[in-house]
Amino acid sequence: MRFVGIEAAAYGVTNLPKAKRFWTDFGLEERAAGTASAVFAATNGSRVILKRRSDPALPPAVEEGSTVRLISWGMETASDVEAVRERLADAGCLAEGPGVRTVDPAGFALEFVVSATRMPEVAPSPANAPQDINRVDARAGFYNRAEPLKIGHIVLNVPDAAAAAAFYREVLGFHLSDAYDNGSVFLRCAPRHSHHNLFLLQSPTGLAGLNHLAFAVRDIHEMFAGGQRMTNCGWKTAVGPGRHRISSCYFWYVHNPCGGFAEYFWDEDYLTEDWEPQLWTPGPEVFAEWMLPKGLPLRKSRSAR
Ligand SMILES: [Fe+2]
Repeated sequence: MRFVGIEAAAYGVTNLPKAKRFWTDFGLEERAAGTASAVFAATNGSRVILKRRSDPALPPAVEEGSTVRLISWGMETASDVEAVRERLADAGCLAEGPGVRTVDPAGFALEFVVSATRMPEVAPSPANAPQDINRVDARAGFYNRAEPLKIGHIVLNVPDAAAAAAFYREVLGFHLSDAYDNGSVFLRCAPRHSHHNLFLLQSPTGLAGLNHLAFAVRDIHEMFAGGQRMTNCGWKTAVGPGRHRISSCYFWYVHNPCGGFAEYFWDEDYLTEDWEPQLWTPGPEVFAEWMLPKGLPLRKSRSAR
């Protein structure tokens, strides 16, 4: 079963116009829109799908209000999707109906599809160090906004992280990247992959819910520009900018009217079969090497690229 990554996340929302404005400001491309739904895409084609919370086409919600309703996992080929179907059937958790769907132990609906994502050639701004000059007679990149490259990962609050992790690892074959000693686990869907596609966070309340959906950007300049743009558009920072200890990436989280947060991140660790997972004790220093709790001050005028 060869997974590619997160193909799409479908939200059920209480305020569709506001949700559409959020993802437009965030930097996704609007691919389709109507009065009852909309589709946005990152550069590689991974999608955010918006529908009304009451839309009967959506699977049941795990929590009140706007939240994620269906997480689509992209796979390399149709035979990989069929392999998942067999694994789910053997485990007794293949959902009825068309396609290959299931519901994970925390109640999140999942589907498995052949991936249509393609990452085009995207050049980050080359960085210079004294011993490593990569940019000559050229200024570094300056951005007015982010245009996220891909959905990188999703973080789910789950009531029983051990049970959820067992499902993703044993039934779907996900790989352990790192773990907290409270049961929370960072998982990646393929052995050679960026640090995590999925973080199952042991819920402090015991309730399931969406924590956040995260998007990779091309360089650190774009991450800061995205956060500043969102601030200028009136969206509230949840935390950031900052730098995670686990996965090493820089981050900026924004409150999302679709539920939870949306995150920009850059410079995530990339792992292989040789990686050795580490057990961590949760705490502020493990969450972030450094961080600003409320973003950067509002700054209306940014110079053009
Ligand atoms: Fe994240």
